[in-house]
Amino acid sequence: MITSWRKMDLGIKNKRVIVTASSKGIGFATAKRFLEEGAKVVISSHDERNLVRSYEKLKEISDEVYYVKADLTKPDEVKNLIDKGSSILGGLDVLAYVTGSPKPGNIFELSDEDWYQGFNLLLMSAVVAVRESSRKMTKGGRIILSTSITLRQPLDNLDLSNVIRLSLAGLIKSAARQLAPKGILVNGVMPGWTLTERVDQLVKDKARREGKTEEEALKEIIKDVPLGRPANPEEIANVIIFLASSLSTYVTGAIIPVDGGYLKAIF
Ligand SMILES: NC(=O)c1ccc[n+]([C@@H]2O[C@H](COP(=O)([O-])OP(=O)(O)OC[C@H]3O[C@@H](n4cnc5c(N)ncnc54)[C@H](OP(=O)(O)O)[C@@H]3O)[C@@H](O)[C@H]2O)c1
Repeated sequence: MITSWRKMDLGIKNKRVIVTASSKGIGFATAKRFLEEGAKVVISSHDERNLVRSYEKLKEISDEVYYVKADLTKPDEVKNLIDKGSSILGGLDVLAYVTGSPKPGNIFELSDEDWYQGFNLLLMSAVVAVRESSRKMTKGGRIILSTSITLRQPLDNLDLSNVIRLSLAGLIKSAARQLAPKGILVNGVMPGWTLTERVDQLVKDKARREGKTEEEALKEIIKDVPLGRPANPEEIANVIIFLASSLSTYVTGAIIPVDGGYLKAIF
């Protein structure tokens, strides 16, 4: 069933792509899918060792992969990533923006400093990345921001995400309107539970703390997912690929849930 999309020409070959926070998880899967489609890709993260390890893995798929270290909590490093990344690629066609995970906690547990850090990580990095990357897209382009289902439905103990990520909806809508005349389409995806290293760790911790098997712990986490399982990161990446492809030329300002049916609200 899955082999057919691999054979389709998605119009991504030779596109110049930057994927942020891509040493692991959703970002890594996204970079991998772009490379499989023949794009030229700059990956990035704030830990050089992880970054180089992932770069080596991706090199097995294509020689057209490069890396630039950047801490998304630092606006000047985000700007440098876009400047340096597009200079390596000789321009920019696609920004696939992913970010690191915010610190867990509720409003009574998180300090003011945690909020400023969360603001920089989840929102300011996106503002700078959208602004700077759109300046590099001289012949139109695609900007895809990967956010979270928390943008539509809060999750317990994730208040930084619940509160700050809402702003990304405003950013996506505003940027989509402002950049449409330049031929730049701006969209978002909202991943639901996705089996990345981080979630795998979360499952292991929960199992250990509650004296359950990992299978039981995972079952509990995904009990409200109608499809009855978490996503694998490639399933999020595939929707990002669609939004970057020649199949989505009339889609802008959209924020697509990729959540196995988790969100109940109609709008
Ligand atoms: N997995 C899920 O179920 C799920 C669901 C909805 C939303 N999300 C969100 O999607 C994003 C990715 O999640 P994931 O599960 O793929 O996480 P992950 O596997 O832990 O990967 C996170 C990535 O972010 C990078 N990163 C962390 N802090 C950074 C920073 N300050 N600057 C630059 N890069 C940084 C990490 O790289 P280094 O450590 O190498 O820097 C890594 O490449 C997160 O924002 C998460 O909250 C995840």
